[in-house]
Amino acid sequence: MSSKSNLKKSNHLIRIKAPAKINLHLEVLGLRKDGFHELAMVMQSIDLADYLEITSNDDGLISLSVDDPSLSAGDENLIVKAGRLLRRHSKLHNLGANICLQKNIPIGAGLAGGSSDGAATLLGLNLLWDLSFTHQQLIDLAAELGSDVPFCLEGGSQLCFGRGEKLESLNSKSTSMAVILVKDPFASVSTPWAYGRCKEINGTNYLKNENDFELRRKRLREESWLKPLSAFEPPPLKNDLQQLVAQETPSVQNALKLLSELPGSVGVAMSGSGPSCFALYPSLNFAMEVLEKNRLRLKSYGLESWCCSFQPKGVILVS
Ligand code: C5P
Repeated sequence: MSSKSNLKKSNHLIRIKAPAKINLHLEVLGLRKDGFHELAMVMQSIDLADYLEITSNDDGLISLSVDDPSLSAGDENLIVKAGRLLRRHSKLHNLGANICLQKNIPIGAGLAGGSSDGAATLLGLNLLWDLSFTHQQLIDLAAELGSDVPFCLEGGSQLCFGRGEKLESLNSKSTSMAVILVKDPFASVSTPWAYGRCKEINGTNYLKNENDFELRRKRLREESWLKPLSAFEPPPLKNDLQQLVAQETPSVQNALKLLSELPGSVGVAMSGSGPSCFALYPSLNFAMEVLEKNRLRLKSYGLESWCCSFQPKGVILVS
């Protein structure tokens, strides 16, 4: 952590790729003492990504510029929060950074774009500021920033338990697949609202104790989720927030209907708390062909669309 090496690195510009995620399985088990929900999920990184360019400074200022005017670059942005959290733990209060965010992942979409940007900041500033925090230390800091941030650091295919921050890798079982992803650019869903609504509707049926939670985790592990992933054996996509979000969000109803009409997909679901939805495909080429033929139809219903392959990693240094 010497100031010499900080000065040396301050000339560098690094570029970090921050991929989005989708939820292949999102099961709400119950309510925790901390007010969060106890979850059992399968999350998957995809190759729709934001990019962060970072240089360091010695002014103690963490400045952020964003190429999307609809996104705040202020104190509430997870990039700024991540930088400050890392600096506080380093106890080197003069550390600063200039960060430019190229935003490609839709905002408020259930794709963890903000969480991935926060994770990218932890990874990037740990390198640039020469802090040598271990990967596990970064994962612990990530969990302080938000439930999905540890996944975004680790990435690939993971079982995610607890609030979402307890990870068990599925990478060795992962298959190379692809999704057609759609979202109404004018729709967004508040995650606290979705979980609050879930509690109102399903709260009385929530599991109540740790033993029951563990049985569900065991079941998900044993399903070894990604093993049966093939066009002939549709995988058990699940999202406990989907129905209640769709009820209040016409674009989700539309998206699910239109996606399920596309040929050749092996499942359709909403990601996270929505409103993004996806259709799962056994290969990227096939998905691209289908999207090519249907992009205009999706657009005529107000939906933006992307074709994305599964990614084996989360945030990553690209240069
Ligand atoms: O952790 P994160 O900041 O992403 O969570 C946003 C909100 O989503 C929380 O404040 C909470 O309302 C809800 N949430 C939840 N249970 C989780 C994750 C999120 O209730 N496991």
